[in-house]
Amino acid sequence: MIFDSHAHYLSTAFDDDRDTLLTALFGGKVSGIIESGTTVSDSREALALADRYPSLWAAVGIHPQEAATFTDRDIDELRVIASHPKAVAIGEIGLDYHYEDGAPRDIQHRCFRAQLALARELSLPVVIHDRDAHEDTLTILKEYSPEGVVHCFSGSVEMAREVLKLGMHIGIGGVVTFKNARKLVEVASEMPLDRLLLETDAPYLAPVPLRGERCDSSMIIHTASTIAALRGMTTDEVLRIAEENARRLYRF
Ligand code: NI
Repeated sequence: MIFDSHAHYLSTAFDDDRDTLLTALFGGKVSGIIESGTTVSDSREALALADRYPSLWAAVGIHPQEAATFTDRDIDELRVIASHPKAVAIGEIGLDYHYEDGAPRDIQHRCFRAQLALARELSLPVVIHDRDAHEDTLTILKEYSPEGVVHCFSGSVEMAREVLKLGMHIGIGGVVTFKNARKLVEVASEMPLDRLLLETDAPYLAPVPLRGERCDSSMIIHTASTIAALRGMTTDEVLRIAEENARRLYRF
């Protein structure tokens, strides 16, 4: 079975067939999905989606690209929606320095820290987004040492070691199947398996041989088989371990 620890089925890419697709996925090999929120309002929608699908849970939080308008009132709202029984994490939260015209870094830092504090207050794990911001992400994580996962991990082996030292998990997605994924291949080969989560980040980052297509959770099979080959295991073993890890981290 496939457990997708990070997806965005609320994306407009799924507007034409969201329910048909989710019904087909859960009727097939997919045993669970975590829908990741990016704003307060889409975190609410993620929980509404979770209410309709027994095997879909949600992370609630404000993505760093959405942090420009962040205020403390958002934290009060997140605190309320995080009490929903299917809200299993605060996420995705973090830092994104990729876009020149993205949210100013000082606001990203404030938004990130406030949500890490909220996660600590509520004893919830966190889902971390780090794009081109490895050093600052790690520095701030060390201040809070949360439980959780660095999703769609893109750092070096050295950074992976630091993340593991904090007790956190590493989320690996379709990128590990890409030809130029040397660093991530190294991380996937070396990391302890009990910290591995598999994810899609659907609709983005479909694995090879489906690269470029709209991604959905069933495609994790290709990510798992790449990791299985690196580790000398079967694809089913990798899938099973990743699912156990996700269920342990998110406590269901
Ligand atoms: Ni995401």
